[in-house]
Amino acid sequence: MPQLGVNIDHVATVRQARLTNEPDPVHAAVLAELGGADGITVHLREDRRHIQERDVRLLRQMIRISLNLEMAVDQQITEFALEVGPDQATLVPEKREELTTEGGLDVIGQHDRVAACVKQLKQAGIGVSLFIDPEADQVRASADLGVDAVELHTGAYADAPSAAEAQAELGRIRAASELSVGCGLVLNMGHGLTYRNVCPIAQIAGVHELNIGHSIMSHAMMVGMERAVREMKELINS
Ligand code: PXP
Repeated sequence: MPQLGVNIDHVATVRQARLTNEPDPVHAAVLAELGGADGITVHLREDRRHIQERDVRLLRQMIRISLNLEMAVDQQITEFALEVGPDQATLVPEKREELTTEGGLDVIGQHDRVAACVKQLKQAGIGVSLFIDPEADQVRASADLGVDAVELHTGAYADAPSAAEAQAELGRIRAASELSVGCGLVLNMGHGLTYRNVCPIAQIAGVHELNIGHSIMSHAMMVGMERAVREMKELINS
């Protein structure tokens, strides 16, 4: 069964909207854990628009499930990751003007910068995952860097304007998945996954973890965090 990593950035987005201390993403993480989450994901962005350093430090102490820190290939954030020691760091591309992470990391084009960052994290014993588009060249370049995992970007599948295009994207994701597993990489996936579109992705052979944020947080606002996480977990397991 694929594991569920719950991205709680949006809880911090609501808090930062008023620059107050509620809702607390640490509280949300504890409830997500009670609902059956296998991991918690947070993205410490360069502009600190949602998650703050304080959140990551407290999460490291509070949760017993795994902590995945999404981060840009940036020296300052890397030093913070080395200090806190998440179970896994997922390197993502980051643009200040984007609403959310738009595309995968260009592991080929940014090879030297990514390699230097990966080396520091791995030397500290932190598992490293690269968030990439489901493309064979990016998978191979990731494997060559000696990372532990890749997270395949499912956004194009989730946003496909027609069922036929969603099927075509699913085909690309399946092919990249097979290659990733063949290269010995742990296979994670995420972005744009919802209660409606998650099942075909959860059925892909070899998938280790799905990272889901927006859809679970939206549902949690209506039904509560524990129930929202439990319902997603049940869907994935089904
Ligand atoms: N995986 C990565 C690498 C991401 O950047 C995000 C968005 O923060 C997600 C997964 C979760 O995406 P969504 O919020 O669309 O479920």
